[in-house]
Amino acid sequence: TPTRLWGGRFEGGPSEALARLSVSVQFDWRLAPYDLLGSRAHARVLHRAGLLTEDELDRMLGALDDLEEACRTGEFRPAVADEDVHTALERGLLERLGTLGGKLRAGRSRNDQVATDLRLYLRDHVRQIVSRLVELETALIAQADQNMGVAAPGMTHLQHAQPVLFSHQLLAHVQAYARDVDRLRDWDKRAAISPLGSGALAGSSLPLDPEAVADELGFDAAAANSMDAVSDRDYAVEFLAAAALIGVHLSRLGEEVVLWASQEFRWIEMDDTYATGSSIMPQKKNPDVAELARGKCGRLIGHLTALLTTLKGLPLTYNRDLQEDKEGVFDAVETLLLVLPAMAGLIATMRVNTERLEALAPQGFALATDLAELLVRRGVAFREAHEVVGHLVVWCQVNDKDFGDLTDDELAKVSPHLTPDVRDVFSVQGALAARKAYGGTSPERVGQQLTALRSLADDH
Ligand code: ARG
Repeated sequence: TPTRLWGGRFEGGPSEALARLSVSVQFDWRLAPYDLLGSRAHARVLHRAGLLTEDELDRMLGALDDLEEACRTGEFRPAVADEDVHTALERGLLERLGTLGGKLRAGRSRNDQVATDLRLYLRDHVRQIVSRLVELETALIAQADQNMGVAAPGMTHLQHAQPVLFSHQLLAHVQAYARDVDRLRDWDKRAAISPLGSGALAGSSLPLDPEAVADELGFDAAAANSMDAVSDRDYAVEFLAAAALIGVHLSRLGEEVVLWASQEFRWIEMDDTYATGSSIMPQKKNPDVAELARGKCGRLIGHLTALLTTLKGLPLTYNRDLQEDKEGVFDAVETLLLVLPAMAGLIATMRVNTERLEALAPQGFALATDLAELLVRRGVAFREAHEVVGHLVVWCQVNDKDFGDLTDDELAKVSPHLTPDVRDVFSVQGALAARKAYGGTSPERVGQQLTALRSLADDH
């Protein structure tokens, strides 16, 4: 028997080309568990409306349980002829219940069904993504804790700028992921609206109870407008936007790890379990995890752009274009669930080359700002102090010296302001400790930040 849900007014089946274009079951089968949840809630509401007897409801729920089990074991599988997940599951129900199976569709359309399924799927998977984000945060926090006190070259333009605590840099990444978690939490408020009961677009003439269904499915409320409910994909766009931004954060962390692991930086050593080799160069140890995190960001950005483009210009309400919402969403979910644990493992297992970081921290005249600010505290205008220290840097470069190598005479020759005691600021530890205002890189502030981020991660 044909499994089509819409055969009545058609003579014969669809053309091969249409069927191939239209079929979505190969990807929307992921929605099966959520479709079954919606079907249970719908069966109960039909029963309360007097459209299913007690006995029919029992048999219906029994068949849905059986079908769910059969889906789980793989005993029931979708066929290409099923068109989509809703069609496949109705076939499964008919196989178990005969004509009774055909009663469940009353008052329901695939339009409100698919919108409900996708929301349920996403709310469920966003919770998993949040857990994986927290694991990555935890790995970064643990490294920040272990390496507390280690100075590193802080960079702008990828040039040595001012020394920072390496932990401060690691926690900067945690701040970004904490915002991502916050964004996904906030997203759920708008995602927690149930479209079920909206039918094809106008609601149902049957005495259904969308609010009870919403409640049963764990939503906060039923949709206030059936036309909006079946055509709204804002929750998918918002999710993809959040996913793209997580992708950007992973890409930026990935890029840093690639740099840190390079011969030129040598800030970290990757654990063997999170590095790869070369098929020709025996010595290679490559940061593929970090590169894939960076590379996969492209598809996350692409999915957001694709869905926005699909939605633009669509008239209300349901249009088949909307079927294009799913593959990008599924891929974004699956990509994040692949990348996040790998990055967490890479970070958790990397060894930080603390001696090298400490040695590099003051290089590139990274204490120049501190010297200029010392002169300012002694009454020199910053403009002049900047100039004086600039001259000192050039003098050092020409004479192949660092600040610390300068004699009293050499300092005095550059400027009378450069008295011997300015050497007090030629210390990385001093420079770090001095940045003690809120948000700065002093050990005390970074320690407070670590405590705050750790308790935030514990709360998530
Ligand atoms: N598979 C469709 C989708 O994903 C749902 C079916 C609605 N189809 C229809 N012709 N009204 O959007």
